[in-house]
Amino acid sequence: MIQSVEGFSQLSKPLKIKWLAKEYFRQTESGPTYKTLTSFWHPNAEVQKLFDELSENTLSNFYLPFGVAPNFLINGKCYCVPMVIEESSVVAAAAKSGKFWLERGGFTAAVKSTVKVGQVHFYYNGDKKALTQFFNTIKDFLIDSVSSELTNMKARGGGLLSLELMDKTSEAENFYQLFARFETCDAMGANLINTCLETFAFNFETKITESSTLLNQGEEFQIVMSILSNYTPECIVEASVECDINRLYYQGLQMSPEQFAKKLERAGIIANYDVYRATTNNKGIFNGIDAVVLATGNDFRASAACGHAYAARSGQYRSLTKITLNDQKFKMTLEMPLALGTVGGLTNLHPLSKLALELLGNPSSKDLMMIVASVGLAQNFAAVKSLVTTGIQLGHMKMHLLNILNQIGTSEDEKNSAKLFFQNEKVSFTAVRNFIESMRWKQ
Ligand code: MEV
Repeated sequence: MIQSVEGFSQLSKPLKIKWLAKEYFRQTESGPTYKTLTSFWHPNAEVQKLFDELSENTLSNFYLPFGVAPNFLINGKCYCVPMVIEESSVVAAAAKSGKFWLERGGFTAAVKSTVKVGQVHFYYNGDKKALTQFFNTIKDFLIDSVSSELTNMKARGGGLLSLELMDKTSEAENFYQLFARFETCDAMGANLINTCLETFAFNFETKITESSTLLNQGEEFQIVMSILSNYTPECIVEASVECDINRLYYQGLQMSPEQFAKKLERAGIIANYDVYRATTNNKGIFNGIDAVVLATGNDFRASAACGHAYAARSGQYRSLTKITLNDQKFKMTLEMPLALGTVGGLTNLHPLSKLALELLGNPSSKDLMMIVASVGLAQNFAAVKSLVTTGIQLGHMKMHLLNILNQIGTSEDEKNSAKLFFQNEKVSFTAVRNFIESMRWKQ
């Protein structure tokens, strides 16, 4: 039986690993668990310390590939986009799509709005009218109470945009919110927003408790929680690609550009009304989005949560992209919320995020929103293009070949022979294993 542990977080890193090796793997520090975990420590102790301190109870580093997709022409500027992702074929698909659209005018992108939201959720079972009047009398005081927190943000052109009392009692009995909208410029701003919200909550509660009108007949008031919202439907970016339908032709296309365009349009319609397809379609978009978000030190869970909520804003979960065919023109658009930062947080702390942002020319958060959205669109185009032509497995499994060869355990010579053989053959785990076995048998 594995022992529970007290004070684990206080142990040194080697002692943590020793405990784990002993309790879960029945090994000492000379065993493989200790060796594997320590073998991924960074040789530079200072860098390792930085990684250790990013999270808690850190034992080692978990590597993910850092790659790039070059040739992304966005609003006339060419980017080589950094991507961090473990899934084979995603970067290749993005790069292929980037190149495809480079030759057809590139991506056009625009940021429509950049507002972030925070809420103080509270419970009050007293008189609604009195609460509203009271809020209006102390609103300016509440806004002033966060002005020192926002001094630097104001100097950069941001700050608090509005603070409103929201009556949510028709949705949940006695529930209200203070609903705050912020402009956080190039920062994601999560910590700043949360600090402001907690200040609002504290001051609001203090004023209500002091008031002689709101709690005089035993009414209950309670701040339930104060937190920014990762749903940012007012922080929207749009990216699109467009060309004459006949320009959709590429070498190897086994149908006319018109048929291809129509099939792409039909695939878009299916992703718009069928939740099963919409989920996979949007997952493909997030293959690209998350990879760039992660590479640039942003919070990919936040952008995914927000994107999926936005995809369901009509009451049905739908595709985030749209395809239209008009006057012999093909147009594909991605519109979605993306709250990203290019200063603060991990962006400048992680050496590779810093490099990733440098590679992108140290973009503003708006620029980064446009780059990320363009990659999401490119990724979707690449996936749907494969799906309506060759099928996904041909390209995907080709890219997956090396993973299969590594899983089987092959020499460099065997890998090279397999790569050559499978250039014109369908890749599957069984086919690769059979090929390697027959090669070995012949020797
Ligand atoms: C695989 O990671 C992503 C795709 O399934 C996306 C799609 O089907 O659109 C290929």
